[in-house]
Amino acid sequence: MLRSQEIREAVVALRAGDVIGFPTETVYGLGADAENEDGLRRIFEIKGRPAWHPLIVHLPDASELDAWARDASPIARALANAFWPGPLTLVVRRGARIPLAATGGLETVGLRVPSHPIALALLRELDGAIAAPSANRFGGLSPTTADAVRAELGAAVRIVLDGGPCAVGVESTIVDVTDAPAILRPGGVPLAAIEAVVGGAVPLGVGGPVRSPGQLESHYAPRAHVVVSATDRVAEGIDAARARGLRVGVLTVAGIDVPEGVTVERLPDDDAGRARGLYAALRRLDDVSDVVVAALPGGGALDWAVDDRLARAAAPRTPDGDPRSDARVRGS
Ligand code: TXA
Ligand code: MG
Repeated sequence: MLRSQEIREAVVALRAGDVIGFPTETVYGLGADAENEDGLRRIFEIKGRPAWHPLIVHLPDASELDAWARDASPIARALANAFWPGPLTLVVRRGARIPLAATGGLETVGLRVPSHPIALALLRELDGAIAAPSANRFGGLSPTTADAVRAELGAAVRIVLDGGPCAVGVESTIVDVTDAPAILRPGGVPLAAIEAVVGGAVPLGVGGPVRSPGQLESHYAPRAHVVVSATDRVAEGIDAARARGLRVGVLTVAGIDVPEGVTVERLPDDDAGRARGLYAALRRLDDVSDVVVAALPGGGALDWAVDDRLARAAAPRTPDGDPRSDARVRGS
């Protein structure tokens, strides 16, 4: 089918209150027309996500900020102009067009303009906004390929647009700009780039009530138990897991000697490459391992997002944060 025809079909589905899988430059999204309450309800149903979790609303162009936000600050505008289209989500005051069902009842909304050509074509054809979380079940790994979306959501989603593997590979950076800017989630735009536009340090918004489920400790978790390790302690991690009869996978950038039966996934030796390859590598390891020992170098601009996701994957599972946690990995 022609791409333009595929896009038109997807827009017909969105208008009818259906949901679709679609590519963005960060990860694949599970999208609904942001102004269609039926579509929004479907997202929460399919993801198994609590209705109080706010969704990110995707716009076709930075010039639409004021159509969907109320009283955007000069800093919000500066960040939108600098990074849209791109992997940045701005939390702003909710404009009247955004239903409360999209924001989990909050008076704020996360907005972003994605840069993937298919996402932009969809948004232009819809002539509206698309609310979309990552296209995984709640608490799981974000999909970075169309196949991963189908594996996560199966028959529940009829249309999945295939835009190839995501170029960024980790989710958008979320900056709350309703007040003094604060980072709610490290992501595809590096901290230094944000601070350069803001003109000063931007703190990580921690403490107080959870403002973003991205802040839940055990979010972004594979089924396997993840252990973050120094490179020179990988062997120790492998031995400890194997002593308990567990299958081990290793996530690393270096060539590494491992005992027979241990699966190794190598990521590229640059931070953008690590971010791009992270979720697909974790998915592959998840299929064959009970424990994943992750030893990555860090230090690059996008490693803040990679390290954040690995730390969350390694965090203790809570029933709220990860419904898929089970005794097998939790007990270990
Ligand atoms: O890269 C991305 O951001 C991807 C692609 C599909 O755009 N989307 C994504 O959505 O990661 P999701 O739903 O998996 O994560 C969105 C995060 C959640 O942690 C949510 O709580 C937070 O954004 N968020 C959305 N609106 C918010 C708001 N008003 N206040 C605080 N956090 C908000
Ligand atoms: Mg997500």
